Amino acid sequence: MQRLDKTISEKLNISRSDAKALIKKGEVTINSKPALSPELKCSEEDEVIVSGKILSAQKFVYIMMNKPKGVVCASEGEKERNVIDLLPKDMRIKNLFPAGRLDKDTTGFVLITNDGEFAHSILSPKKHVEKTYVALLDKPLDSGVIIDFENGMTLGEERLMPASLTVLNDEKTLAKIVIKQGIYHQIKRMFKKHGLEVLELKRIKIGNLPLDEKLSEGKSRYITNEELEKIKEV
Ligand code: URA
Repeated sequence: MQRLDKTISEKLNISRSDAKALIKKGEVTINSKPALSPELKCSEEDEVIVSGKILSAQKFVYIMMNKPKGVVCASEGEKERNVIDLLPKDMRIKNLFPAGRLDKDTTGFVLITNDGEFAHSILSPKKHVEKTYVALLDKPLDSGVIIDFENGMTLGEERLMPASLTVLNDEKTLAKIVIKQGIYHQIKRMFKKHGLEVLELKRIKIGNLPLDEKLSEGKSRYITNEELEKIKEV
């Protein structure tokens, strides 16, 4: 349950005081009954009508962004330029946040949503949703690194879940990594343990959903329902 003025302000992307004004003017009904107080509570099951229009039942949005370098994965209101600022105005509704953080210098697939439960379900290591990255390294990697990744390495105090590591070039400096966790600077720290520096890092896939190749850096698009299912495929 949520206050009526908050619900209207979020759904219509208007200020709380404008929402209150609409309520006071008698423009709002909840389940066909006049709603004259902003403090009334409503839930997703209630039919809220504002000025004759039913508030959209589309509660959640899911956006794929190809994050460029130099932008932080944070919600609105922080000092540095963040992924929400990059969204076109018509996509920038309230309460959006990136589901999982990429470092400022990491590029690629960021999922932006207002669905906390969904975000939790793809981020929790217990759900086993794979995140796939490509990394460019400063030096060639050897088979010892691959074995350590695949066995579930220890990083400081922590034992990580097994990750997969595939070499992508003859120089052994380009690699594909698949992880199911998302601890701070995870991939950079995994390579650093073996004396390797990550020069470039890009996330190319979440679950079974690859980053849309047609999406240039800094651009975003909505994720379809079919694609959402692919994210959760394990
Ligand atoms: N691992 C990192 O080190 N950085 C990222 O941005 C993502 C995974």
